[in-house]
Amino acid sequence: MCGIVGYAGDKNVIPVLIGGLQKLEYRGYDSAGVAYLDGGKMNVIKEKGKLAGLEKLVKGKCAEHTIGIGHTRWATHGEPSCANAHPHINMVGDLAIVHNGIIENYLQLKESLERKGIRFVSQTDTEVIVHLIHYYLKDDLKEAVSTAISKLKGSYALGVISERFPDEIVAVRKDSPLVVGLGKGENLIASDIPAILEYTRDVYFLNNGEIAVIKKDGVELFDEVLNPIACEPYTVEWDVSQAEKAGYPHFMIKEIEEQPRVLADTLTPRLKDGEVCFDEVGLTDDALKKIKKITIIACGTAYHASYVGKYIIERFARVPVEVEIASEFRYKNPIMNGDNFVIVVSQSGETADTIAALREAKKRGAYVMAIANVVGSTVAREADSVLYTRAGMEIAVASTKAYTTQLMCLYLFCLKLAYAKGKMAPEEYRANVSGLAAIPDKVADILGQKDLLQKFAYEHFTEKSVFYIGRGLDYALAMEGSLKLKEISYIHSEAYAAGELKHGTIALIEEGTLVVAVLTQGDLIEKALSNVKEVTARGAVVLVITQEKYKDMAKDVADKLIAIPDAADFAATMTAIIPMQIFAYYMAVQKGCDVDKPRNLAKSVTVE
Ligand code: G6P
Repeated sequence: MCGIVGYAGDKNVIPVLIGGLQKLEYRGYDSAGVAYLDGGKMNVIKEKGKLAGLEKLVKGKCAEHTIGIGHTRWATHGEPSCANAHPHINMVGDLAIVHNGIIENYLQLKESLERKGIRFVSQTDTEVIVHLIHYYLKDDLKEAVSTAISKLKGSYALGVISERFPDEIVAVRKDSPLVVGLGKGENLIASDIPAILEYTRDVYFLNNGEIAVIKKDGVELFDEVLNPIACEPYTVEWDVSQAEKAGYPHFMIKEIEEQPRVLADTLTPRLKDGEVCFDEVGLTDDALKKIKKITIIACGTAYHASYVGKYIIERFARVPVEVEIASEFRYKNPIMNGDNFVIVVSQSGETADTIAALREAKKRGAYVMAIANVVGSTVAREADSVLYTRAGMEIAVASTKAYTTQLMCLYLFCLKLAYAKGKMAPEEYRANVSGLAAIPDKVADILGQKDLLQKFAYEHFTEKSVFYIGRGLDYALAMEGSLKLKEISYIHSEAYAAGELKHGTIALIEEGTLVVAVLTQGDLIEKALSNVKEVTARGAVVLVITQEKYKDMAKDVADKLIAIPDAADFAATMTAIIPMQIFAYYMAVQKGCDVDKPRNLAKSVTVE
């Protein structure tokens, strides 16, 4: 959802900006641009399309001992074009800004600026900001930025540079993320940590309303009314190698293969003497006992993980759970009060709808626990407590390892809750905990079946439509399997509760239609098999994903069968999703799609 980078230091600013944008391209990739001072003069270079186009334009250019800002765009206002690409400049061309977010009142601001004689050259909401800053600029850039943002409604992360203040970048944010990188003799800003990791691991997450002045030799921070504030840096644990492909053709397959490790990283520190230990979360058994109803709120893949959470929490802890799409929840005048326990699930911790839903829940008195991946993200900071997934940096737009680690966190929470509430006997609790502990190794085993799935994908990549079916937990999984396929291969796909198919959707099944049937739950398998027979009777080609122990039951209905190693049924979600991720990956590869950066999508959706 747009990526911002900025640099003040002695290095050639252009490759620094381009390198940063490369790490942020997952946030948007329909156009890109840089602005920098060279010999005190503003230079702006922009190009439509992916970053490679801009890279060609700036090749060989050099500007050392200076400042610069860069941007990669995901269009909201105005088509992807050179004119709409950032940075945007004022009419005289000595002031440039990059922006991530949406300015909701830009039309009113634009009309009033036009009445003052300002000519607009783009269709963006962003352009009003640069003209406003110019309008208020006297002898202090941060003051002009501060006055300009007081006129804005909406969300923004901004980087601003000016010929008149050649040593500084002014940065500010409201509801869009911005991180300051604190280096030695160089300082940076970025929308996300990977863009600055090459230069420093010491970062400061700007809070809403704070303004930063970034110079080569230091960073000054100010609150909303421009009082200086102290900078308390945070040291990032990730290293640069996580942001590299490390020999893999795509980040997605690298991240799929990282799952045994990140699942273990998420699980192991939370296990003590065979029990779930939640010291870091700060939720006591007494607090857990009091939970009467739970609402889980999320978007996209995290929403699908939440559905698994609902099934298992209701089954084991016997607490009613509602799952809400964040963008729906925030506007539905939700029935919620202090009796509600809310879980928000978000990889990035910066999804605008999820943040708004979190605030809505808190406003109504609910306790909010976040399951988040990015330490220091808005969701993590604003929730009452956080259970971190330890997926590491996820770069491919299609989420894989974040999903399975979200599941792991939901399982840990569920078992802890069920036990605290006395709904699970000690032996059952311990058996279930060891069921989870066995999962990482089983995931590793499934990765060994990659070739089989690759072959199957290569036989089917021309499909026009694929259906995913399952019951219970398998239905929750089918939703995620289907999303993986459609987002990266652009093949139409639908997930259906297998028993519901006959109430309408089965009309779409015809000779040769590919159906992926997920059959991992022993208590439902016979019912689910009947549903599979309903589609085979109508000519469907069926890929069955089942556990070894159910293979014999399922083999007669399968055109192709993937048997995953036996796990405890309740935990088989984390194993059964792996073949679906791999299948989607190879379908997209064979179709020649841009797997890591699918069309129209962005990794982190920081606008409504
Ligand atoms: C975007 C991404 C999805 C992701 C969703 C929620 O749509 O493309 O992969 O699941 O946002 O993101 P979050 O960071 O909140 O988990």
